[in-house]
Formats: sequence, C-alpha cells, structure tokens
Amino acid sequence: MNAAIRAVVRKAIYDGNEVYGIRYGFRGLAEGDIYQMGIDDVGNLLSRGGTMLYTARYPEFAEKEGQEKAIAQLKKFKIDSLIVIGGDGSFMGAKALSEHGFPTVGIPGTIDNDIAGTDFTIGFDTACNTVIEAVDKIRDTATSHERTFIIEVMGRNAGDIALWTGISSGAEKVIIPEIGFDMDQIVEDIKAGRERGKKHIIIILAEGVMSANKFMDKLSTYGNFHSRATVLGHMQRGGAPSARDRVLATMFGFRAVELLNQGHSGICLGIRGNDIVYGDISEVLNRETHTPLMELYEINGDISY
Ligand code: F6P
Repeated sequence: MNAAIRAVVRKAIYDGNEVYGIRYGFRGLAEGDIYQMGIDDVGNLLSRGGTMLYTARYPEFAEKEGQEKAIAQLKKFKIDSLIVIGGDGSFMGAKALSEHGFPTVGIPGTIDNDIAGTDFTIGFDTACNTVIEAVDKIRDTATSHERTFIIEVMGRNAGDIALWTGISSGAEKVIIPEIGFDMDQIVEDIKAGRERGKKHIIIILAEGVMSANKFMDKLSTYGNFHSRATVLGHMQRGGAPSARDRVLATMFGFRAVELLNQGHSGICLGIRGNDIVYGDISEVLNRETHTPLMELYEINGDISY
C-alpha cells in the first residue's frame, strides 16, 4: 500500500494538486486525523510493508452519522476528492461517499485477492511469496520425519492464497472454501503417496475452510499420519513487498490520480491481464461471488501426486 501512497502523492503534486493524508482510514477521516503531505513524506517508502498512514476497522462508517462526520471533515480541509485503498469494506465506504456526491476512486489492496473486477490486489503476491518461503522450510522437517503438515493460510473466505501457494510450493493437497474437501479421498491419496515412497505430505488449507487444528483432528480419526498443524498467521501481511506488488501499486496510484483529475468518481481500479482497468464501484461490489482461477485447482489436482 505504501507504493500506492507514494505514487498518488507524487503524481498528484507534480500535476499541481495539494495532497492530504488521512491516518487510520475512515476513522481518521471522521475524526479529522488529516495532514498535508509533501513529496518528501513518501521518500524511502517502497520497501516498507504495511501502510505509513496506518489503518483501523471502523464499522461506524456504515452508518449515515459516520459518513456525515467524514463529509464535514473533508469540507473543513477543502478536500475535493478521495482515493481509498483497501478491500470490500473500504470500497463500501468509498461508494457511500460518492453517493453523497463526493468524488472517490478505489484501489484494491488486500492480501486476500478477493475483490471482483481485478485479477490481483495489492499485497497478494507478497503474501504468497511469504507463504512459499515458509512452506519450503517446513518441507525439510516434513521430509526428514516423514510427516503430514497441514499449513493454514489466510484469505478470509477466499481460496486464492491457498491455491497460488499450493501450486508454487508443490503441495500435495490444496483445500479451498470454493470447493471444500472429501476426507476419504484425501486419506486415500495420502496412503497411496506413502506407498509410492513419498517422504512428505503438505496440505495447504485456506482459513475459510476451517482451522488447521480442526482439520488435523478430523484427519486423525482416520489413522496416524504423523501430522502437524502450522498456522502462518499475520506474518503473511508484513515484510518488504515483492517487485510485482510495488509495480502494481504504483500503477494503481498513478492511474487513480489521472482518473480523478479527468472527473471520474465512484469507480475502482483493477488489473486485467497487463491492463489497468476501472469500473463502477457499486457494480463491482454487487458481483456476488469472487472466483479464484479454478484452472489452477485442476492443474494442481492433476500434477501434485
Ligand atoms: O483481509 C485480510 C486478512 O489478513 C484476512 O486474510 C484475515 O482473515 C484477516 O485479515 C485477519 O484480520 P485481523 O488482523 O483483524 O485478525
């Protein structure tokens, strides 16, 4: 997200705009935690994870009162348009403000990659890289001790992190909420793999399915697979961003400023193939299901054993 903030600040100032940073998201907006930003405020930022503007959950923004407080602050600081970086919740806030007649543009930023209208969100690639680094390390123990590891990854209700990291770490099984699982089949495959001489079994489990510990308990009712559960947790959300995330975030930030200055509002950005695209925020939020690239699931199923 920092790369997006840097691109927004620099592009907007070079184009002759004044830029204000809002700390702690919509909560900071409603409370007036706002300050003017300069070119130098965003120096030395590209390699830093997280967000220099901090963030907060602020459910009050779903209510009219929270939104009205925000509008009052925007007027007070003479701010005439807003770029919002975040996931679904942030986009709902941006949509509400645009419905109040306030120009907004949304940039998709979440490790979950669960926003319709874009192939990728900021943070997803970095989170996947963190996961595969961890899995590569866990595999050493799995192989040496001939164990079955169940590795729980984040993603909220989406299976994207599990799917991409399952493929890229060569996991024997990937379990995602969009598909579910058949424990009989899993047990059969583990046994067949062991009989073929497989030294390790790695199961990547999306948190949206169930916890790794619960899954391990279920698996253990079928026999002793020498299993261990590992929850990677919040390490997936930090650290220096990947080159791909830095480039994506920079492209989003740059384009968001251009679109606002061209008079667009109530839109959110995305990437489709190599193109930065944009669509109506309400339309994107109304799309019911987020579907990961199911082709990956099939490929993994075919080649992982
Ligand atoms: O949406 C990003 C995410 O990291 C999810 O993958 C995860 O379920 C959730 O946030 C964790 O939220 P918190 O940090 O509030 O526990």
